[in-house]
Amino acid sequence: MFPCKEALVTGAGRGLGRAFAEALLAEGVTVWGTSRSGNALPAGVRPLRLDLASPASVAALAEQLRREAPALDLLVNNAGAGVFCPFAHFPEESLDAQWQVLLAGPVSLCRAFYPAFAERGRGTIVNVASLAGVFPIPFMSAYSAAKAALSTFSKTLMLEADGSGVAVVDFQPGDYATGFNDAMAEPPVPDDARLRRARAAAERHFVNGPLPQHAARRLMRAIRSERSGTVVSGNFFEATLGPLAARLLPQAVVRRILRIFYNL
Ligand SMILES: NC(=O)c1ccc[n+]([C@@H]2O[C@H](COP(=O)([O-])OP(=O)(O)OC[C@H]3O[C@@H](n4cnc5c(N)ncnc54)[C@H](OP(=O)(O)O)[C@@H]3O)[C@@H](O)[C@H]2O)c1
Repeated sequence: MFPCKEALVTGAGRGLGRAFAEALLAEGVTVWGTSRSGNALPAGVRPLRLDLASPASVAALAEQLRREAPALDLLVNNAGAGVFCPFAHFPEESLDAQWQVLLAGPVSLCRAFYPAFAERGRGTIVNVASLAGVFPIPFMSAYSAAKAALSTFSKTLMLEADGSGVAVVDFQPGDYATGFNDAMAEPPVPDDARLRRARAAAERHFVNGPLPQHAARRLMRAIRSERSGTVVSGNFFEATLGPLAARLLPQAVVRRILRIFYNL
C-alpha cells in the first residue's frame, strides 16, 4: 500500500511537478497542487496559489493547508526556476529571488509541516534539489548554490528525523525535458562566446533529457520505500556515472569534465 494519503506538490502545473502529481493521483493520494496563476493543474488536483518569491504567499499557503488539510502527510517541494547569468553581471534582486524561491521558500514549507509529521510519527518530505548542487552549472551560480544548500538542509533534517517515523528525500534530478529551459531568466549581459557556448550546451542537455514521467517513477519508488536518503534521477550518464565520479575523482578532474560538458 502507498504510505501517504494526502500530498502537497508545489509547481504541479507543468514539468516534473505535474508528473509527480499525476503519479500520486494514480496511487490514490489526495493531491493539493500549486501554481502561480491557480490554473492549468491536472484534473483531480486541488488547486492552490503559491508564489515562492513572496514570503507572504508561502505563509498564506501554509496557513490555508493547516486549516483545510490537517492530515497532510506528504510535502513535495518541487517548484523552482533558474537564472542564467555570469556572476559579474548577476542583478542583486535576481540573487535574492533565487535564494527565496529555491531555498528560503521550500525550507519555510518544511518548517510549516515537519513538526506535525514528527509529532504524528509519520509523513514524508521530498525536497527537489538538483544534480547541479553536486556538479555546478556554469553561469548558474545562485541556482547551483541554492540547490546544494537545499540538499544539505535535507540531509540535516534526515539526521534529526531519524527514528521519528518521518522520511526525508533529497531528490536530485539530472537534466529533464521540461519547460525549465524556456522558463530560465536571462538578464541582458554583454555578448560573450563562452557564455553562448555554455548556454547552448545547457539547452541541449535539458532538451535531450528523459521525460518527467521517468523522474516520477523514481520518486514514487523512493516514497514507497519509506526511507530517508538522497535519490539521484536522470539518464545513465548523469544518474549512475555522475555520483560515482563525484565520489572517486579529484575535484580538478571533475571541473575539467564539466568544462568539456559545457563546451567552455
Ligand atoms: N528540468 C530539469 O532538468 C531539472 C533538473 C534538476 C532539478 N530540477 C528542478 O525540478 C523542479 C521542477 O522543475 P521543472 O524542470 O519541472 O521546470 P518547469 O517545467 O519550468 O516547472 C517549474 C514549476 O515551478 C513553478 N514555479 C516556478 N517559479 C515559481 C515561483 N516563483 N513560485 C511558485 N512556483 C514557481 C512553476 O509554476 P507556474 O505554473 O506558476 O509557472 C512550474 O510548475 C525545480 O525545482 C527545478 O529546479 C529540474
